[in-house]
Amino acid sequence: MKILAIGDVVGSSGVAHLEEALWKFRGQVGADFVVVNGENASDVHGLSSKDAEKILAAGADVITLGNHSFGHADLFPLLDSEKPILRPANYPPEAPGRGYDIFRADGWRILCVNLGGRFHMDPLADPFDAAEKILEREKGNYDISLMDFHAEATSEKIAMGYCFDGKFAVLFGTHTHVPTADTKILPGGTGYVTDLGMCGPEESVIGCEIEPTIRRLRTLVPVRFHAATGPSLADGVLFTVDEEKNRCVKVERVKF
Ligand SMILES: [Fe+2]
Repeated sequence: MKILAIGDVVGSSGVAHLEEALWKFRGQVGADFVVVNGENASDVHGLSSKDAEKILAAGADVITLGNHSFGHADLFPLLDSEKPILRPANYPPEAPGRGYDIFRADGWRILCVNLGGRFHMDPLADPFDAAEKILEREKGNYDISLMDFHAEATSEKIAMGYCFDGKFAVLFGTHTHVPTADTKILPGGTGYVTDLGMCGPEESVIGCEIEPTIRRLRTLVPVRFHAATGPSLADGVLFTVDEEKNRCVKVERVKF
């Protein structure tokens, strides 16, 4: 089983890039299941229902989110529907949507868990505790498990990897939009990377327009960030999983 995970889609250029390139790329690498973090797809600040539909049609099997999960109210009905869109499971239970679900690919049951970090992020519930409870609740209901841990701090993400080594076949971080060079298989068999990177405009500051970002940093005058436009690329990681053992056997960085 090959699982392709793609980093945070930023803006309309990122969405358009997936529409152009994802089906072809997933065919080329033989991906059986594709996870895309879509939380910055609609001009950086969240995901609209329209862009969610575009990303799913482009070849994503599931969309995960993060701190901008609720940036577009028109997404709420989709979050509360059967659509394969997850927001971090450690949001308050009253928030729209769900934080994990079990999806099928090639007859295998894949538990997908989305969690959010707490360093320099919203005051969510303990993500470690939330992950433990989900695994306990779903014991026996899945063959393969994966986690998107949407967090700022590299240390928090690495700690999450080791804490759940052997319990998730695939555990990757998102949110910083910068691909990290630490793809590895942890001792217990978890395929791990601290951050996938992003799918968005190459000439940008983590997907946003360059000039307003520099101006804000130099003047401290607040501006609303907008997604940059222009040629985009997608960063991701391809995990090969032994579905019988729920273990990762190969991790490869990809860019397309
Ligand atoms: Fe984020």
